[in-house]
Amino acid sequence: MTLLEAIEARHSVRKYKDEPIPEEVLAVLRAEIDEINQAAGLHVQLVTDEPKSFSGLMAYGAFSGVTSYLVMAGKKSDDLEERIGYYGEQLVLLAQTLGLNTCWAGASYKKIPGTYVLEEDEKIGCYIALGYGLTQGNSHKSKARGDVSNASDLTPAWFNKGIDAVLLAPTAVNQQKFYFEYLGKKDGGNVPKVSAKHTFSMIGYAKMDLGIAKCHFEVAAGKENFEWA
Ligand SMILES: Cc1cc2nc3c(=O)[nH]c(=O)nc-3n(C[C@H](O)[C@H](O)[C@H](O)COP(=O)(O)O)c2cc1C
Repeated sequence: MTLLEAIEARHSVRKYKDEPIPEEVLAVLRAEIDEINQAAGLHVQLVTDEPKSFSGLMAYGAFSGVTSYLVMAGKKSDDLEERIGYYGEQLVLLAQTLGLNTCWAGASYKKIPGTYVLEEDEKIGCYIALGYGLTQGNSHKSKARGDVSNASDLTPAWFNKGIDAVLLAPTAVNQQKFYFEYLGKKDGGNVPKVSAKHTFSMIGYAKMDLGIAKCHFEVAAGKENFEWA
């Protein structure tokens, strides 16, 4: 499965089978987590065999059978949320290619002391549930290309493909609060520029959603075709 196929196949899954993730699959995830933690200055932690975080009464969600998850932590900074979104979604897509299902969780989890480590100045942005789903989930209701971008018949095919992948991205309560703009070649440069911004959100998580959407955009549009403005 390619990353683009993973984008198309991925849906949030909240109910999981009682089936452990094999050690060789965990090893692939751990290797990618180590790379991300080094490259992006994050402190992502993979927790396994821990059923408490996603059990009990939670208002939003309805999770069951979650015993593995990612703790998405990092040093407090202005761009922490967006980096958690961008790199977390890389892990979500990798997990999908490995046959796993996932669900981002900003609210529907409990922090269980002793299951994660926080260094000085670090904080947890969210969790991501991992496992073998009872189902593969469902497609979300989506905004249209024109609601989240200036994509049109005049913008390049790679840009429009990127926007289609953005529309498949998970966002908190499916809010899709972002806007991507094709700017063309600027300041005599050879490579077209694309800007991506979040719009106003009452519930928050807009920066995390933006990072997730930018990850999808890069996979589908091709990093070689543009530069972020
Ligand atoms: C940052 C973020 C936080 C989320 N928090 C929760 C959560 O706390 N509980 C939950 O059940 N789903 C949560 N979700 C999942 C969204 O509800 C889901 O991504 C959205 O409805 C779109 O559906 P899809 O992921 O199946 O495409 C979250 C998603 C994101 C991106």
